[in-house]
Amino acid sequence: MKDIIILGIESSCDDTSAAVIKNGELLSNVTASQAVHESYGGVVPELASRAHEQNIVPVVDQALKKAGVAKEKLSAVAFTRGPGLMGSLLVGVSFAKGFARSLDIPMIDVNHLQGHVLAHFIQEPEVTKETPKYPFLCLLVSGGNSQIVLVKAYNDMEVIGQTIDDAAGEAIDKCSKVMGLGYPGGPIIDRLARQGNPKAFAFSKPNIAGYDYSFSGLKTSFLYFLRDRLKENPDFIEQNKEDLAASLEATIVDILMKKLRLAAKELGIKEVAVAGGVSANTGLRNAFLDHARRYKWNVYIPKFGYTTDNAAMIAITGYYKFMDNDFCSIDKPAYSRVSIG
Ligand code: KG4
Repeated sequence: MKDIIILGIESSCDDTSAAVIKNGELLSNVTASQAVHESYGGVVPELASRAHEQNIVPVVDQALKKAGVAKEKLSAVAFTRGPGLMGSLLVGVSFAKGFARSLDIPMIDVNHLQGHVLAHFIQEPEVTKETPKYPFLCLLVSGGNSQIVLVKAYNDMEVIGQTIDDAAGEAIDKCSKVMGLGYPGGPIIDRLARQGNPKAFAFSKPNIAGYDYSFSGLKTSFLYFLRDRLKENPDFIEQNKEDLAASLEATIVDILMKKLRLAAKELGIKEVAVAGGVSANTGLRNAFLDHARRYKWNVYIPKFGYTTDNAAMIAITGYYKFMDNDFCSIDKPAYSRVSIG
C-alpha cells in the first residue's frame, strides 16, 4: 500500500508550527514561538502575522528534513483554517494553498479546536499510547476557549458547555497581569502555585446553569481583593504571591472540574480527556489524576508538547480526513471564528 504522508501547518495565533505524519505516526513536529509579544503583555496580531511570514518557510523546511521526507513524497497538506487571528491564519492558509498547488496534491482544512481534541491520537514511533474510546468528554481549555466537548467520533463533536464570557486561560493571564507578573501568566502562576497554600484566600465562584462556565466574576473579585489589600499593605502581592497563585489556580481548577463531573455523571461517561494550553497546568493535571482514582474515570492528559498550539495535532486530524477523502478546494477562506461542531 502507498504511504500516506501528511504535512500539517498551524499558524492560528503566535506559534508557527509544521509537522509530518506518515501512516498515522508522527515523524516531526517543529514549532517557532514568538517571544516578540512578551514585552506587550499579550499577543499583538500585526506582529504575530509578520513573525509567521518570517518563520513559515524555515519551519516547514525543518519539519520535512527532520522527518526525512522529500516534499514530492507528501500525500496532502493539512492546515489550520480557524478559529484564530485572521492575519496569522492567512499566512498558514496561503502558504498551504501555494505549497499544495505547486506539488499538485490535495489540501485538507482543519478546525483548530478539533485538532486540540485529536492531539490525544498522535502516535509516536516506538511508543504505545492509550487513546480515548468514543464517546468521550474533552475539557478544552486554552487562552481563547473553555468548553466541554462530547466527542462521538473524530469528525462528530458537540460542545455541551462553554464559557459565557472569559476563557480560563484568559482569566489566569489577566490575574497574573494584575499581580505584575510576566506574560503569558499561566506557566508563572503554575510555578508560584507549587509553593503556595491553595486555601489561603477564597475568590468568588460562578453560579451558572448546566455545563457552562464563567470566569469574569472571578477576575473582578481577584482585582477588588487585591485593591483592598494593597490599600492596607502596599507589599501585599510581593509578600503573598505564592498563596495568591495557589488560591487562584485552585479556584479555577475547582470551577472546571465541577462542571466536568456533572457532565460525566449525567451522561454516564468515564472516558475523560483534557486539551489546550491550560492542560499544561499542574493543578489541573493532578485534579484529573485524582478524579481517575475517585470516580474510576479513564483520564487522558496530553504530553506537554501537545498542550499548546502545535502542527502535530493538525497533521493527525488531516490524516483522518485524508482517509475519508475529505479534502477542501483552493477557494476556501480562513475563518477567525468557528465552533468545533
Ligand atoms: O492553547 P493555547 O496555547 O493557545 C490558545 O489560546 O489557543 O493556550 C494558551 C493559554 C494561555 O492562557 C496560557 O497562560 C495558558 O494556556 N497556559 C497555562 C499553562 N501553560 C499555558 N495555564 C495554566 N498553567 C500552565 N502551566
